[in-house]
Amino acid sequence: MTEGQRMSEKRGLDRRQFIGIAWAAAVVAFAAQATSAFIKFMIPELEPGAFGTKVRAGEVNEFEVGSVTFFREGRFYVVRLPAGFMALYRKCPHLGCAVPWDHALEEFNCPCHTSLFNRRGEVLSGPSPRPLDYFPVQIIGDEVFVDTGQLMTRQEFDVSQVTPV
Ligand code: FES
Repeated sequence: MTEGQRMSEKRGLDRRQFIGIAWAAAVVAFAAQATSAFIKFMIPELEPGAFGTKVRAGEVNEFEVGSVTFFREGRFYVVRLPAGFMALYRKCPHLGCAVPWDHALEEFNCPCHTSLFNRRGEVLSGPSPRPLDYFPVQIIGDEVFVDTGQLMTRQEFDVSQVTPV
């Protein structure tokens, strides 16, 4: 083999190595992009104020004592009690129906199997196995926030579930 042939073979090997490295880099870049797209698809970013995020409900003085206010996007009711605030999940603990607040009766009245709950979410009658679930409420300054990313279940009402004003 002449010196020229050896040099040519060496250059060919370098070219093959370069192509191999380029292919490996392309495969890694493609895999990284595909993984990123898959993660975004599986864990979509939540819009601020949507269910699953911390939702601003309003200012403290917008809620009269005794009021029950529904937030459709957040799927909760803000209940203003004399001692403070609760945020009750609208989903019935029995079989998951949406529970409306009955303004005339002043009770939550599940239309599916007639479980009744008072404004603290306690079961008054019907098949519900426990009170309405709730979300933590935070008062920052004079604003009320509900963390719909943290659903809390309970077996009975306790004053610790109320966020004082
Ligand atoms: S789903 Fe509410 S009582 Fe059955």
